[in-house]
Amino acid sequence: MRTQIAIIGAGPAGLMLAHLLRQQNIDCVVLENRTREYVEGRVRAGVLEQTTVRVLDRLGLGERMHSEGLVHEGTNLAIDGEIFRIDMAALTGGATVMVYGQQEVMHDLFNAAEARGVKIIFEAKGVALHDVDSTRPYVTWQGGRLDCDYIAGCDGAHGASRGAIPSHVIQTFERVYPFGWLGILADVPPASHELIYANHARGFALASMRSAGRSRYYLQCALDERLEDWPDERFWDEVCLRLGEQTAAQVTRGPSFEKSIAPLRSFVCEPMRWGRLFLAGDAAHIVPPTGAKGLNLAVADVIVLAAAFAEFYHGGSTAGIDGYSAKALARVWKGERFSWWFTSLTHRFPDMDGFDRKMQVAELNYIRGSRAAQTTLAENYVGLPM
Ligand code: FAD
Ligand code: PHB
Repeated sequence: MRTQIAIIGAGPAGLMLAHLLRQQNIDCVVLENRTREYVEGRVRAGVLEQTTVRVLDRLGLGERMHSEGLVHEGTNLAIDGEIFRIDMAALTGGATVMVYGQQEVMHDLFNAAEARGVKIIFEAKGVALHDVDSTRPYVTWQGGRLDCDYIAGCDGAHGASRGAIPSHVIQTFERVYPFGWLGILADVPPASHELIYANHARGFALASMRSAGRSRYYLQCALDERLEDWPDERFWDEVCLRLGEQTAAQVTRGPSFEKSIAPLRSFVCEPMRWGRLFLAGDAAHIVPPTGAKGLNLAVADVIVLAAAFAEFYHGGSTAGIDGYSAKALARVWKGERFSWWFTSLTHRFPDMDGFDRKMQVAELNYIRGSRAAQTTLAENYVGLPM
């Protein structure tokens, strides 16, 4: 089999890239090692920034998002239960975010794939990259071989692509946080019509949602925490405590139908290109979820990458391809900084002393009183311009 671009991974990065390439009449094949049901079933991101919303619109895939998604003009912070709101729209000249789950985005991308000529090979096991540093790279998997011009490594944090770059070429930067997020989904109305990011002496909590009838809550937890130690009642008690009395009064409890723990990590690999291989999304960088940036950074990468390929195939120039890594990394590092900062501001660190905690509370109080500080938070949260 032969194609122009071999895409490894059918997550948000890989599938969005495939749609963007098809829109430019560039041929591609996506190799995914799991099933569609598995990829679509993973409960992950919930907040789409401006750029992500626009690219779905540009692909003509925004219809369901606009009818079912929730537009948020603001977000809330809480310090030991005391809430204040950041009016993102007012501070950024009208920018908003869209609450629309990653599962829904994946559903829309998969549904439109066939009609738009996006070929996806599911359950491609043992994917391996070959001759990446030559003009004839190819990809193999159990029972198949795909020859191509270029490879897009969109296979997430644990994929095969990054490992194809020799270690002397690659530099990695990492911060592992000493805690994770315990998250639940429940079919109950959200406590608030906008998100609440809560800093509490007992640890961070987040009240989020998927729709008017579906809530998503997270609690900062220890890395060795076990799910069986967190029956729903204990979770609801703790989340109410950390969100504070005012919000707790609005929390509707109900049985959870999903419960999981995710570790928090910041990670970047440089460069994002080697030879004919281009990394995009979680394959190249991870952020802690506090800033809601992971999926959005993945989408920003593939916007740049798709434009670079279009410039090559339709304009005959390799300038975009050659500039991809530097251009993508410039945005990635800003997203890394924001996610790290927001995590540091809102979480309880095991080695924190009284002074550290006072500094967090002082910074939150400063944000509460300063339009300049709120603008900084807001412009990062809604997404920096491309
Ligand atoms: P992935 O989604 O990981 O997709 C990679 C794909 O490659 C997968 O389908 C995988 O099966 C496939 N694959 C892996 N290895 C191979 C292989 N060897 N061969 C073939 N295929 C392979 N982001 C936000 O923007 N906003 C949020 O609110 C947010 N909240 C989050 C909450 C949680 C709890 C978590 C865990 C993440 C959150 N994120 C959020 C991050 C976001 O989910 C990721 O950044 C996003 O999924 C990255 O997309 P991706 O396509 O790069 O990688
Ligand atoms: C979510 O709803 O899953 C969510 C929302 C905001 C975040 C992270 C996750 O910052």
